[in-house]
Amino acid sequence: MRFLITAGPTREPIDPVRYISNRSSGKMGYAIAEAAIEVGHDVVLISGPVNLDPPPAAKLISVSTSDEMFDAVHRHVANRDVLIMCAAVADYKPAKVSKHKIKQRDEKLSLELTPTRDILASLAKQDRQVLVVGFAAETENLQENAQNKLRAKNCDIVVANDVSGSDSGMESEENEVTIFFRSGEIKEISRASKKIIARELVKLFANMRENCLTKKMS
Ligand code: C5P
Repeated sequence: MRFLITAGPTREPIDPVRYISNRSSGKMGYAIAEAAIEVGHDVVLISGPVNLDPPPAAKLISVSTSDEMFDAVHRHVANRDVLIMCAAVADYKPAKVSKHKIKQRDEKLSLELTPTRDILASLAKQDRQVLVVGFAAETENLQENAQNKLRAKNCDIVVANDVSGSDSGMESEENEVTIFFRSGEIKEISRASKKIIARELVKLFANMRENCLTKKMS
């Protein structure tokens, strides 16, 4: 199958030397890319800035801003079977990017932020062939927020993790996830290395995509 995977954070520039970003390490997305390659899938990996070596067999597309990630996803989604939006895309970006480095001054400075374009929500729901998987990093009301995200962003699946602790989720080697399906079904993968979780997720996504195809053909 053909997978399109996004990973890592985005950087939203404030001026030529400063940006807004987040703590995403890219480990979960890279682990999913590796796990998919291990079992023979074709992988395009769209990555924000991270300190990780990409799997050699993946086609790597490096991006920095949410706008670059938006364009890269739209350019590569056609003919893909599974899209996994694991990237921690910034939800806001500075309304204006200063051409010059902002000077230090002895007074308050406010930054006006504007929402970024939502990549998941921008993918048409009707007639699409690709299985769309979103990720939700939550610090409260995991189930409610993940299920709302599933509907609001037109996902087939949302994989949610609780990032309120320091021992799982962002930057960590381990994770535990709850998987929400459009049908209302919920599955849990208990605490394990991101590598093991990634293998389970790849199996699950490939099966689900296979079942969609079988249904369409019969
Ligand atoms: O709302 P939140 O940012 O928590 O949603 C997370 C999910 O939405 C992730 O799958 C992320 O990749 C995706 N996302 C997106 N476009 C954005 C922001 C988030 O596709 N601008």
